[in-house]
Parts: sequence; C-alpha cells; structure tokens
Amino acid sequence: MARRDPMKLKTTNVPLELYDFARKWLTLLSLAIMLVLFLINAPFGRFAGNNHKRGRHPVGLFNSSWFLVDGIRSWIVMEMVAPLTFIYALFKSPLSFYKVPLPDAFSPQGVLIILFLIHYLNRALINPLRTPSRSTSHIIVPLAGIIFNLANGYIMGSYLSSPYGRIYLGGQYAFDRTSFRVGVLLWVVGFVGNVAHDEILLQLRKRAAERKAKDEKEAEDDDSKNKDKQGTVAKKAAAGEYYGIPSGLLYEFISYPNYFCEWIEWTGFALAAAPFPIPIDATSVSTFQSSILSALRTIVSPWTWKNALVTPPYAFAPTLPPPWVFVLAEIALMLPRAYKGHVWYKERFGERYPKGRKAVIPFVF
Ligand SMILES: NC(=O)c1ccc[n+]([C@@H]2O[C@H](COP(=O)([O-])OP(=O)(O)OC[C@H]3O[C@@H](n4cnc5c(N)ncnc54)[C@H](OP(=O)(O)O)[C@@H]3O)[C@@H](O)[C@H]2O)c1
Repeated sequence: MARRDPMKLKTTNVPLELYDFARKWLTLLSLAIMLVLFLINAPFGRFAGNNHKRGRHPVGLFNSSWFLVDGIRSWIVMEMVAPLTFIYALFKSPLSFYKVPLPDAFSPQGVLIILFLIHYLNRALINPLRTPSRSTSHIIVPLAGIIFNLANGYIMGSYLSSPYGRIYLGGQYAFDRTSFRVGVLLWVVGFVGNVAHDEILLQLRKRAAERKAKDEKEAEDDDSKNKDKQGTVAKKAAAGEYYGIPSGLLYEFISYPNYFCEWIEWTGFALAAAPFPIPIDATSVSTFQSSILSALRTIVSPWTWKNALVTPPYAFAPTLPPPWVFVLAEIALMLPRAYKGHVWYKERFGERYPKGRKAVIPFVF
C-alpha cells in the first residue's frame, strides 16, 4: 500500500484562515490608511464636496454627483453590518471544532456581547435616526466602512465565541479580574461620554434646522408677496450643512470629544475582553520603564513592519487579539480626521474658536 508523505498533507480550515487574514489586514491597512488620511480628507461630513470651503473636494472624483449617497441611510447600512456579522460569528463560532451554545447573558462573555450590541444599537440606529441631517457622502466611504465592519464584526464575534475566549472569559474568575472590572467601567464612561458629546452636535444641528425652517417660511411669505425675489433665491442656494462651535463638557478642551470617548470605550472593552498585547513587567518602576521602552522600540523599528507584511496571517502578531486590533484600527482611522477637523474649525471660525482647545486628546494633541 502506498504511504502518504506527511510533508505533503494539507488541511484547510477556511473560517480560521479568514479570521487570521482579517486580523492581519485590518491592522496593517488601518495603519496605512491613517497615513493617507493625513493627506486626503475622507469625503463625508464637513469634507464632503458640497461642504468644502471652495465648494468642491480637492480630489475631483469625490465631487461627482453620480457617486454621492444620502448621509443618514448610508451610515445606517454601513454600521448595521458590524452587529449583524458579529451575531453571525457568535452563532457559528467559526474557531470552535464543535458546535457551542451561545454564552449566558450573565457570564463575562455575555456581558461583553451585550456591550458590543448596545454600542451598535446607538451607532447604527438610534443616533442616525434622531439626527436632523447628515451631509451626503461619497460612495467610497460606506463601501470602505462595510468592509471594515464585516472584518471587525467577524473577528470580534469569532474571538468571543472561540475556545480561547471561552477560557479567558470563563466563569467567576473573569468577573473577579481587575482588568475586567476596570475595563467594563471604562466602557461605560466612554459610551456615556460618546453619546453625550454626539448629543451636543445633534442639538446644534437641530436648532439650526429649526431656524432654517423658520427663515424659509418667512422667505416663502416674502415670495408670495412678490417682494425680495432675488434675496430668497440666494438664501435657498446657500447649500451645505450648518456647523456651529460646540461647547460644554469636554468640548471645552478638545474639538472631538466624541472620538476621544469612543477610544476610551473600546480600550475598556479590550481590557475586559483580552490580555494586554504588550508584555509589561510592573514589578518595579525600572522594569516597567524598560518594558515600555522595549515595546516602543519594537513598534517603531522598520524591521517589525517589514516582517509584519511578509508574515503569514496565522503567525501575525500572535499577542494581538481582535479587541485590541479594533482599538488600534479606530485610533488610526479617526486620529487624522480629528486633526483635520480641528484645523478646519480654526480656519472656519478664526478668532472666535477657543484658543486653548486641542484636537482630540485633552492638553496633549
Ligand atoms: N468617522 C469615523 O471614522 C468613525 C469611526 C468609528 C466611530 N465613529 C463615531 O461615529 C460618530 C459620528 O462620527 P463622525 O465622524 O460623523 O463625527 P462628527 O464629525 O463629529 O459628526 C457627528 C454628527 O454631527 C454633525 N456635526 C459635526 N460637527 C458639527 C458642528 N460643529 N455643528 C453642527 N453639527 C455638527 C455631523 O454632520 P455632518 O455629517 O453633516 O458633518 C454629524 O451628523 C461619533 O460618535 C464617532 O465617535 C466615527
């Protein structure tokens, strides 16, 4: 009987390969896109063509009305992908050999699943359905968002339902862990902060929409009396969304507290859900300092990035689990937008914009 060469035996596990692929490329592409976003503004919100200071986005293709989509609907579609893929992955548990039941709602895994879903209930439905208006967006933005959310929902759901996730978050032991408790607390603080600061923007827009409706009504009355026709037309042509100077809470210190709080929220989630990805020796001040320095040295080394690119997905950054990938990707994608938006505020409002306000990290950046 012919014997099979063990070196030529090959098994494939598509869900596992997909998980590793998504984990690797979500990390690397987010970091690469971060560099691009410092040069080019993503064409949505204040940087959509019709809101741009010259009335057009500097990248010509982003102005074509063919590719513009409704801001609120496209946001809902794009964001709904994350919780749906997350739920799919939880049910399928693609990293388990055997079918596993869904975790109990009162288990550590169950708590984290509920937190994830609460976030997306607000992000994908409650907030966009309450907002009076959102700028149109170039189709590339929701398409990129859908890909991001597909990958992220899949790896987060796979991780939480994986054998590793079940062991790390298993039973009372996880509830007793300080990192779990501090993490959940940070999630709550970040979530409340994110919602509260989004609400300040929402109220600014709502008041502006009410004022606009009143002006239009007055203009129509003028029209009907056939008085200032030219003035009315000019008013109607003044397209683009309303932007005011937000104030209150962390807006006194930074231009994007909603982003900052979202980062706190997901850092808390990651702290609760997975081990910290960098080994930190905190037995003394000097070992703590040297472990931080050594981590920083690894991160900035070009060899790290060259190796990361060529490393096969299954061996990519083994200590970087999906909840930390999500934190990294969010900061990478939102940091340039916060910086550009902060510069935009200063240009738009000039002297009226509070001088001491930083972009996104109080007193620092
Ligand atoms: N952007 C991202 O990459 C990203 C990623 C993950 C999560 N998030 C979260 O999703 C939420 C929305 O993100 P975003 O990037 O759209 O935030 P944003 O730029 O702060 O805008 C939020 C909403 O407020 C409106 N708005 C912004 N500034 C305003 C002002 N000065 N006056 C009046 N209205 C104003 C915007 O309208 P316009 O659309 O017309 O500008 C939009 O409807 C945030 O909580 C954020 O943390 C964002």
